[in-house]
Amino acid sequence: MKSPKKIVQEGYDKVSHTYRADELSPTDESYQKYKSWVDGLAQYLKKGQTALDLGCGNGVPSTQFLAQNFKVTGVDISPVQIERAQKLVPEASFICGDMSTLNFAPEEFNAIVCLYAIIHIPLEEQAELLEKIYQWLKPEGFLMLVTGHNEWTGEASDWLGVEGGDMYWSHADRKTYLQWLQDVGFSILWDRYIPEGDGGHTLIFARKNKHE
Ligand SMILES: C[S@@+](CC[C@H](N)C(=O)[O-])C[C@H]1O[C@@H](n2cnc3c(N)ncnc32)[C@H](O)[C@@H]1O
Repeated sequence: MKSPKKIVQEGYDKVSHTYRADELSPTDESYQKYKSWVDGLAQYLKKGQTALDLGCGNGVPSTQFLAQNFKVTGVDISPVQIERAQKLVPEASFICGDMSTLNFAPEEFNAIVCLYAIIHIPLEEQAELLEKIYQWLKPEGFLMLVTGHNEWTGEASDWLGVEGGDMYWSHADRKTYLQWLQDVGFSILWDRYIPEGDGGHTLIFARKNKHE
């Protein structure tokens, strides 16, 4: 039986192009959504500061937007996503790997975004990952995180209509994520419900405290 991580890695290798095109039109709803999120974060940062995009996909559009002003590192478990990201956002650096087993230096980043990606990691690993994210941020650094809204763990076959495109998700509910983040030491600046189809996600904007 395949592990959840293997299902996700092979799944995104298969669905990469269906999930996201090489380019988004500025009139596209997704373009505008990500642009407003990255602009919302960017107003708290200075040009040239460091940002980490965890689960960056093909880099379009979040890594691309961040790379316009910041020194960005993108991480993704899918080699196909990373290969595309390297071509589409050549000004950023990329690492192909599992974000929960990677290590960065403490206080390396001014900001970390993780958009629709933690929800693909088995739930039992997620609180520990949030602790690592906290360590990787500089004091008063920012986290923008898309989590689940309701608790659910499950799988799908032929996801997005792609034959053989299996996928795995695992997430807690909004209240649990807010509690985990506060337990780690984050201050929650705001959170917002992001509707999608019959359900939705939670977008959380949090800040690391000034002193440990
Ligand atoms: C739903 S896509 C989101 C991509 C991008 N963040 C966006 O919002 O457009 C989730 C991405 O997270 C990546 N991912 C899932 N689990 C991961 C893990 N354990 N480590 C690194 N990347 C992971 C997937 O390969 C995929 O590219």
